[in-house]
Amino acid sequence: MPQTEDILRAAKLIREGKLVAFPTETVYGLGANALDAEAVARIFELKERPSFDPLIVHIANPGDLNVLGKHPDPRCFLLAEKFWPGPLTMVVPKSDIVPDIVTSGLETVGIRMPANETALELIRAAACPIAAPSANKFGLLSPTTAQHVKKQLPGVDCILDGGPTGIGIESTVISLNHKGFEILRHGFITREDIEKYIPFYAMPAAEKTNIVSPGMLKSHYSPGKPIYIQGDYVPEDLQREKAALLSFSGNDSQGFAMVYRLTSSGDLREYAVKLFSALHQLEDEDIEAIVAEPVPMHGIGIAIMDKLKKAAHRYRNDD
Ligand code: TXA
Ligand code: MG
Repeated sequence: MPQTEDILRAAKLIREGKLVAFPTETVYGLGANALDAEAVARIFELKERPSFDPLIVHIANPGDLNVLGKHPDPRCFLLAEKFWPGPLTMVVPKSDIVPDIVTSGLETVGIRMPANETALELIRAAACPIAAPSANKFGLLSPTTAQHVKKQLPGVDCILDGGPTGIGIESTVISLNHKGFEILRHGFITREDIEKYIPFYAMPAAEKTNIVSPGMLKSHYSPGKPIYIQGDYVPEDLQREKAALLSFSGNDSQGFAMVYRLTSSGDLREYAVKLFSALHQLEDEDIEAIVAEPVPMHGIGIAIMDKLKKAAHRYRNDD
């Protein structure tokens, strides 16, 4: 088991923006300071995830639901009392201190308090919430031992070896609605377990559109206006003076109503950190379309392109 000095050293690395793999009761997580967007970008880079996927934020004190969540539903605190520490992740509206890259641009954040002493000590010692996906390379098995992590992610700054994890499957992810809870990802805690405290209620799609606040529409991942990728598909009659360019290189920007250049040095991590907030801003700008310049397909560039392609997919002219 990791000693206190190991945990303190790991916590210092987290504070410095580095990545630490740590045990939880479910699987090993690949952790970074959840409030440090650059550090979180490194998670996506090291995992080589082809798309941004919202990360779970790990806390050591249920009261932090109030810090990371925006006015969390009181029922969250009841569930926290019953299931935390433990393998239950609650998705709640996010507060402004949570960077967009943690939630992949969603207005909600998944939060859980893990039932593992090493994990809890690490979070306390780092004195910040820790964002962590499972500590595996994309598409490979979730790690249940430190050896699995070492094999898949030799580039991680530190691995806290807490022995094999007890549960071995990921946490249950739920969200609350006006009548009850729904399950977004099945895990160790079952529907029946949670139903002892609040009713299960899967909202019909029609009802969802009635009650979501306008802000929640952003959870469709793509901005509320057409987005095209240069070299992929851009309509011939696109009027640059009514469009914004999401530029990577700074080239070919003439005539656009506005140019967003997310990095001036070609730093893909910097681009990734700024992408979601740029899309949110462009949604509110007085323009008709967004044109994105492709970014290089390596490292976190793969995830960036995957996200851009998903956002652009329905505006392609191929069907
Ligand atoms: O047991 C676990 O949950 C492990 C340990 C390390 O805590 N973590 C884990 O993380 O499995 P990851 O990144 O492999 O899975 C995170 C999943 C997302 O794919 C998504 O299904 C859900 O959690 N999730 C996170 N935030 C969300 C949000 N804001 N809205 C909807 N789903 C969310
Ligand atoms: Mg995973």
